[in-house]
Amino acid sequence: MAKKTSFFKKLTEIFSEDIGIDLGTANTLVCAKSQGILISEPSVVAMNLKTDEIFAIGRSAKEMLGKTPKHIEAIKPLKDGVIADYDMTEKMLKNFLQKVKKRKFFGSQRVIICVPAGVTHVEKRAVQEVVREAGAREALLIEEPMAAAIGAGLDIFRPDGYLIVDIGGGTSEIAVISLGGIVITSSLRLAGNKIDEAIINFVRKVHNVNIGEQTAEEIKIAVGSAMRLEEVKTMVVNGRSAITGLPCNFEISSREVEPVVGDICDQIVDEIKAILEQAPPEISADINKRGIVIAGGGALIPNIDKKFAKLLNLPVTISENPLNAVINGIYKVLENYEEYKDVLVTEIQEYN
Ligand SMILES: Nc1ncnc2c1ncn2[C@@H]1O[C@H](COP(=O)(O)OP(=O)(O)OP(=O)(O)O)[C@@H](O)[C@H]1O
Ligand SMILES: [Mg+2]
Repeated sequence: MAKKTSFFKKLTEIFSEDIGIDLGTANTLVCAKSQGILISEPSVVAMNLKTDEIFAIGRSAKEMLGKTPKHIEAIKPLKDGVIADYDMTEKMLKNFLQKVKKRKFFGSQRVIICVPAGVTHVEKRAVQEVVREAGAREALLIEEPMAAAIGAGLDIFRPDGYLIVDIGGGTSEIAVISLGGIVITSSLRLAGNKIDEAIINFVRKVHNVNIGEQTAEEIKIAVGSAMRLEEVKTMVVNGRSAITGLPCNFEISSREVEPVVGDICDQIVDEIKAILEQAPPEISADINKRGIVIAGGGALIPNIDKKFAKLLNLPVTISENPLNAVINGIYKVLENYEEYKDVLVTEIQEYN
């Protein structure tokens, strides 16, 4: 009998897959051991309220935001880096995990999932619980800036201080890392979504036009910058006139958008300065030599590296493939579990 159990256990180990999840406010990415990144989709769920079934998920659901008829509701289940709608997060994760598990016979055995640094105990529990409800046996947590640092290729185990900034959709995570641990960290609820909101307000005030979140994000990506671009970029924006209430369009230029984006970047820099002031002198010296690394979607804002370098007087590097830095870090932990297991958040819960 004992032999049978161990044979079964072995089989489970062979067929079950260790999975990594970057559950982000804007995007959710899933990777599986030995297989790489399998899913990269916006964190959006559209529900059919008549049938209580999922109508769309990910990219197709995002396209529906702000355009749904009464019986369909498109929801972003995460806000500011944490779960805002538990049921929808569970539905979304279940759907993604089912897609990943298609090829396998057994359930996943270990899931490593990121949480913003410094979230509350209750918020961490909620993430572990939602992963369990979505079908995992064991949910291990890693702090987002730690995953980003590993994914950005920093040698986190060295006795050298590194400063990483992960600018996502909901939060900007700032962390000083040395000897495989986080020395100081701050999670600022000011990132891509706040830039979109600021663009909506700017367009309403200056152009008298109401636009939605999607359009604001398109403006940010097409003509936004942290500092003045050499060439002027323009874009035609469609919206609803705040004066006539009718559909209208107007042209917006990078010169107008730059101060809006720049203002939020300034606020992130202020928080980085506050972190640097708390850093022990030896670590300050390391950061002065190595500079800082930016990851997350916000790293793609043109000239953000120049702006940070100018305001902080430090070298600034953009992580390779910044949107994937966190999931690449989680993947590295999955692949080299024994080497990296101590970087996980220690509050571990095992499920049967
Ligand atoms: N080219 C670009 N220029 C500027 N911003 C961009 C660009 N591409 C993506 N973004 C922004 O990056 C953000 C998404 O980044 P990311 O996927 O790292 O966030 P997330 O991990 O889902 O969020 P969080 O970590 O805060 O929970 C969005 O606000 C998006 O608009
Ligand atoms: Mg993120």
